[in-house]
Amino acid sequence: MEFGLERGGGGEMSGFPAVRMRRLRENATLRNMLTEVRLEPEHLILPVFVCPGEGVSEPIPSMPGVCHWSVDRAPEVIEPAIDAGVKAFLFFGLPAYKDADGTSAFDSDQPVQRALRFTRGKYPDTVLFADTCMCEYTSHGHCGHLTEDGRVDNDATLELLSKTALSQAEAGAHFVAPSDMMDGRVGAIRSALDGAGMSSVGIASYAAKLASAFYGPFRDAAGSAPSFGDRKSYQLPPANPREIIRDALMDAEEGADMLIVKPAAPCLDIACRLRARTDMPLVGYVVSGEYVMLRSAISSGALDADRALLEYHIAVRRSGCDLVITYFATELARLLRRDAR
Ligand code: PBG
Repeated sequence: MEFGLERGGGGEMSGFPAVRMRRLRENATLRNMLTEVRLEPEHLILPVFVCPGEGVSEPIPSMPGVCHWSVDRAPEVIEPAIDAGVKAFLFFGLPAYKDADGTSAFDSDQPVQRALRFTRGKYPDTVLFADTCMCEYTSHGHCGHLTEDGRVDNDATLELLSKTALSQAEAGAHFVAPSDMMDGRVGAIRSALDGAGMSSVGIASYAAKLASAFYGPFRDAAGSAPSFGDRKSYQLPPANPREIIRDALMDAEEGADMLIVKPAAPCLDIACRLRARTDMPLVGYVVSGEYVMLRSAISSGALDADRALLEYHIAVRRSGCDLVITYFATELARLLRRDAR
């Protein structure tokens, strides 16, 4: 093929030097006008770890800058977020007790349910998500009911998850967010909610949740590491994109309202593929390991905080996600407000 300056489709002069892309980047106003993907505080969801007791604000050693909060002190993390423009929260709980079937997950007096009631009452304009899973509540740390030979029993777990979702919905969750990865959980939870007259409560399912090393700091924070084995029989294999997409789209068929993809950056291609396959809202989750990775690079001075946080989270939006769950939500929202001025 000849290398000519006049190359271009339809006989038009569309090649260099007729086209100079840099004309579109000439000054800051123009660059701002032509910005294709925007990140706003409204796109962010802040995860909050709630624990039993009163007066507790306990820094989480594995996640510098993140705390466990007792419900009475939750305003100290929620109000700064709201002031910065964040409207949505995702609750995780440390229960007061654990047992083999994780029954504290559906105990209405436990921290997540209390936090939902409290937040729904005190901040009526917020949108509340509850992580629906068993691993924080089971004595063995797996995401469901165990058989005698130590495997997670899929169908018995659906019952536990449905009870948990119902109890979270009754406490005020707008969305339950099943993160267990059992087959059929979205359908089971949908019919449980509908059967209880809670058809207005949505399901934001962790649809593409990979079996990932990046949940390590969270498992320390939530005390939810499995006491034996791993989660590879239920979470998705990172090297299997077709299997991931099939599994994720099944959640849509079963009645999910939004699909969560995580970990965010290692799954940008997955979000992108899902975006092409469904018009549903997609949510990217910048998980604990990504948080710690960025936080330590920022603390050491290796990365510029503002630029790194913006670039990282914009990439998640660019991949096709409407919303982003991130431990940086408050910090990022402040940054976005400052930039907008
Ligand atoms: C519960 C759950 C996990 C995360 C969200 N929900 C941990 C896991 O699956 O082991 C991870 C969140 C994070 O790393 O920030 N199953």
